[in-house]
Amino acid sequence: MKSQNGHRTATDEASGCEQAEPVLADRQGEIQRFGELIELPLGLSRATREASVTALNHILADVMTLRDLYQKHHWQASGPTFKQLYELFAKHYQQQSALTEQIAQRIQILGGISIAMSADVADLTWLDRPPRGRETVSVQITRLLGGHEKLLLEARELARRCMEEGDPGTADLLVSNVVRTNELQVWVLAEHLVGIPDAEAGRP
Ligand SMILES: [Fe+2]
Repeated sequence: MKSQNGHRTATDEASGCEQAEPVLADRQGEIQRFGELIELPLGLSRATREASVTALNHILADVMTLRDLYQKHHWQASGPTFKQLYELFAKHYQQQSALTEQIAQRIQILGGISIAMSADVADLTWLDRPPRGRETVSVQITRLLGGHEKLLLEARELARRCMEEGDPGTADLLVSNVVRTNELQVWVLAEHLVGIPDAEAGRP
């Protein structure tokens, strides 16, 4: 087996059928560095696209964090409403997952590069990191509501800036998809905290 530069690796032995062997790429083949934008005939200035891409990557990091928080709470659900919450958390996880695809796609449409890996998400997100341990249902839901609110404030502010800077496509994605999905999830979640006794909610 040969690397692309033609050098044999340490494990190479002559096989006699080199033409049939895969040619591995050297691991330094970035064609676009993170933060760089490619040119596209969108009728949008580079400055506008750069501003939208940078802010969208922050929103993406928060949506991915919220999505994973739903996964954690789905796995760690408990109590008399277990089945209902187990299914609700899974549904919201799927909806947040769909949003990540739409946001990442928008970043690529604008000529940028979306973050993808969990280490990069952890670097960029503004949402609080939850403990690894299991929490009560009330704490789980309260934590989720806090994440939704931060995300909603951020998404509305970015939508407003995008309208001012002449990028209504991004503003539309933020309002029609990110804001409306998250507002709906807040309503559905918050209803689960109505009538919960103080002791169960952890209040003195
Ligand atoms: Fe599951």
